[in-house]
Amino acid sequence: MSGRPYYITTAIDYVNGTPHLGHAYEKTMTDVIARWQRMCGNDVRFLTGTDEHGIKVEKTAAEAGLSAKEYVDRLAPAFQDAWDGLDVSYDRFIRTTDPDHEQAVVALLERIRSNGYLVDGKYEGWYCEGCEAFKTDKDFVEGKCPVHPTREPRWLEENNLFFKLSEFTQPLLDHISANPSFVEPAFRRNEVLGLLREGLEDISISRSEQSVSRGIPIPFRDGTVIYVWFDALINYLTGAGFGSDEQLYERFWPCDVHVIGKDIIRFHCIIWPAMLMAAEIPLPKQVFVHGWLTVAGEKLSKSSGLSIDPAAIATTYGADALRYFLAAEINFGRDGEFSWQRFEEVYNAHLANGLGNLLSRSIGMATKYFGEVPDEGPQADALLSATCEQAIANASAAYDKLQLKQATSAAWKIITTCNEQIQHREPWKMAKDETRLQELGCFLYGVLESLRIAVVLLSPLIPSKAAACLHALGQEGGELLVPAATEWGTLRAGTPLERPAPLFPRIDQLVESAAP
Ligand code: MSP
Repeated sequence: MSGRPYYITTAIDYVNGTPHLGHAYEKTMTDVIARWQRMCGNDVRFLTGTDEHGIKVEKTAAEAGLSAKEYVDRLAPAFQDAWDGLDVSYDRFIRTTDPDHEQAVVALLERIRSNGYLVDGKYEGWYCEGCEAFKTDKDFVEGKCPVHPTREPRWLEENNLFFKLSEFTQPLLDHISANPSFVEPAFRRNEVLGLLREGLEDISISRSEQSVSRGIPIPFRDGTVIYVWFDALINYLTGAGFGSDEQLYERFWPCDVHVIGKDIIRFHCIIWPAMLMAAEIPLPKQVFVHGWLTVAGEKLSKSSGLSIDPAAIATTYGADALRYFLAAEINFGRDGEFSWQRFEEVYNAHLANGLGNLLSRSIGMATKYFGEVPDEGPQADALLSATCEQAIANASAAYDKLQLKQATSAAWKIITTCNEQIQHREPWKMAKDETRLQELGCFLYGVLESLRIAVVLLSPLIPSKAAACLHALGQEGGELLVPAATEWGTLRAGTPLERPAPLFPRIDQLVESAAP
């Protein structure tokens, strides 16, 4: 591939249960960005995977009566299958138990050590097993971790290896001030700056094998394993070939964007860049922080007991319907609420009535009056072509800034304009008047061409339905590349059209057909 390299990653999920809709949100929205970047001709590498070490996974395995290895081997495929079922087009699914990851972790640790940033010390303090993080009293609300209020924090006393994080307070402040887009959105950047201004303390990065039996052994300290977060963050380097594939690493590091949730900002915006600075490795260009998906205002998570199975939604309504809902409904970067009622409303209004109807109506009219894509005549429909031009510019700018909701609504403007214009200009009346046939051809061509452009713009969200729409419009497969694929005039007069089966049957019909 010859395009500009573009490396994008998601957080890697703890394998202590099956994937829930919160995990699916991050993976599908990252996929939308990856697909857009591919459409721009970039050479995309997209990494996702599972985080398989640490006490949390170990305990869940023990509760299930399995060894940790058996447990993760059984569950990791559930994550991979879920992302396959949601059309997440990752290039590598990494597991922190993969041999090349272990190799990369040891290589990085050795580099940090030889640069003098590791020291011995005694750790005494609280540990939240939910966050897999060391905590201080001020992190707690009424003695509990606010993210995991159902878990008791544990008091730990261990002789540990420490990473000299405190030495990076000023270098990190300097880096963010020189590269403000390192943390996006801006309100998250301010949060990180606030944490930095409080000053940083050194962090413990080893665990004794008595307290955690699973993890990557520290080669120069018998009987200890690497703290799960220190190990997990390095997956981003492993996925770019660090320590195993020089060519890949040269091409894809530094990473373009790490997409993560707001609960793990400190690890990604402070600890991770400090680790890289300590190893003299260039920092990722950006960390993009998304909000939480909530149900009735509560974070979806395994420990809260709130869980909605993304695979079941995909099976009943199709992966594209879920992807569309998440992108169109939630401001990427802010928290967003999932409810069945809203899902049905958006599905029926946008997909079934808006896009689905426009497709069947416009193909129906063109087939009835012309039997094929009509000739546009000497001039394009001015209003429709101008609407498309504006929408292409707005959607592209929004995708580039990871503003997925805005990108969706920019593309959506084309669909609403077409539907309004059909009502307003009444093509069925033009068809009855011999003198207006050229006008009719020009208008219907404009509607079909606008629809094609809207579908191209929406294709990162609804990849399989977009392919079906384009097929119905006589556009055969192949890679969609912008700007060529959004150029007005791509649809050729005389192209045969195909009346498609309803692409998005209304939910009342779907639910009836899914009922036993
Ligand atoms: N294993 C760590 C990440 C290590 S990355 C080097 C972890 N795992 S997690 O399973 O708890 O979360 C994985 C990702 O899913 C995180 O980015 C987290 O923010 C995201 N989400 C988990 N629940 C979520 C919601 N309810 N809503 C949106 N995203 C959420 O943290």
